[in-house]
Parts: sequence; C-alpha cells; structure tokens
Amino acid sequence: MNIEKVLQDLMVLTGFSEEDGRVLRETAHVTSQWAEEFAQAFYDLLFSYEPTARVFQEGERPAREASLKEWYDGVIHGNFTPEFWQQQWVVGLIHIARRVTNPYMLGMTSRVQQLFLHKCLEAFPPQQAEAVYGAFKRATDVVAGLVTEGYFQNYMLAMERVAGFRKKLIIRMLDMEIKRMLDEAGVQLSISDWTASDT
Ligand code: HEM
Repeated sequence: MNIEKVLQDLMVLTGFSEEDGRVLRETAHVTSQWAEEFAQAFYDLLFSYEPTARVFQEGERPAREASLKEWYDGVIHGNFTPEFWQQQWVVGLIHIARRVTNPYMLGMTSRVQQLFLHKCLEAFPPQQAEAVYGAFKRATDVVAGLVTEGYFQNYMLAMERVAGFRKKLIIRMLDMEIKRMLDEAGVQLSISDWTASDT
C-alpha cells in the first residue's frame, strides 16, 4: 500500500478536507501564540516519564522543542502540501530508528489534542472553538495515522529486504502464522477464507 492510498483512506474516514486547512489558517494568528506552551508541556511530560525520557540524549531537548514547534506551525497554518504528508510518513521511519513506539506517539497526539481543545475553549466562542478544534483534530489524526502506518510499513519493508523474500510470499507466510495464532487464541473469524481479502 502506498502513501497516497493511506492518505486517501485517512482523509475519507476522518472527514478531513481542504476546508480544515482554511479554518486553521484563519485562526493561526491566535493559535500560533500557544506554540511555546505546547512545546514545554510536551517535553516536560516526556522527560518526566522514565521510558520516554530514555529516548533522548543529553542536551537534545532544545532541538526537539524546535522541531515540534515547526511541526505545530505547519499544522496550524494549514500547510497540508504533498511534502508535508510525505514528511509525516518519514517520521514513522525516524521514530523506528530512535525507538519511539507508536503508543508513545499516539499518547502524545492525544495530549496535544486535549491541550489544543482547552486553549480553543478559552480563546474562541463555543461554535468557533468546535470548528477550530475539529479541524486540528482531523488534521492531527491524519498525521498520527500516517506516522503509525509509515512505522509499520517501513518495518515490514526492512524485514522483506533483510530476509530477501518477495512481499507476496511474506504475506502468505504471515497469513499462515496468523491463522495459527488465531487458533491458539480460540478465535474463529466470521468468514473462513479471510486470506483472500485485499491487503
Ligand atoms: C504528536 C506526536 C509526535 C509528532 C507529531 C512527532 C513528530 C516528529 C517529527 C516531525 C520529527 C522529525 C523532526 C525533524 O525535523 O528532525 C520527529 C522526530 C523525532 N521524534 Fe517525534 N513526534 C511525535 C512524538 C514523539 C515522541 C512521543 C517522542 C519520544 C518519546 C518523539 C521523539 C522523536 C525523536 C527522538 C526524533 C528524532 C530526531 C532526530 O534524531 O533527528 N517524538 N518527530
């Protein structure tokens, strides 16, 4: 599955549209003021929790804060170019290398979204707060989906390359193993020939 298909699935299913970019751009003069607070809250939490603190090297925090602010800036300016989405896919690969698991990333996506909602409710009348938060939520959900799938697919690709097998063969072998694991778990799916479904 390529990034275009993943992006399309995420956009259709979350309901993300160009309109979200417009809503975010219109309010960026307000939401851009929250960048520093977001970066502090984000890294205060990551550095106070031992498993995530261990990800970082000595003296790395300022650089990480700067790239988070840059990312946030791109989102709130509705800067959703093909390059932006491609970069989120690559973040999955970067996170594999730096041992940043998807639960770490998804947990922090949730935190950022909760903080953004809180700030929106303080800054805007209720209807506008819902619209701005909705746009941010959909955009960052698409981002989280791309990072997660980029992580998974790049991991699989690396395994294929290391093992030197063709993708179809790997999928057949994995299907056989998944069947065994479902049996072990005592699970029977509603259809018997599920391996025929699209992957
Ligand atoms: C909201 C969730 C997250 C987003 C949107 C995100 C986004 C990004 C982006 C855009 C980069 C590339 C930065 C660059 O330009 O160099 C990156 C790299 C990185 N992220 Fe994340 N990240 C998230 C969560 C996390 C978490 C939870 C951790 C740690 C527990 C983490 C640790 C890192 C590290 C260590 C790098 C690599 C920096 C490097 O070596 O160049 N990220 N992330």
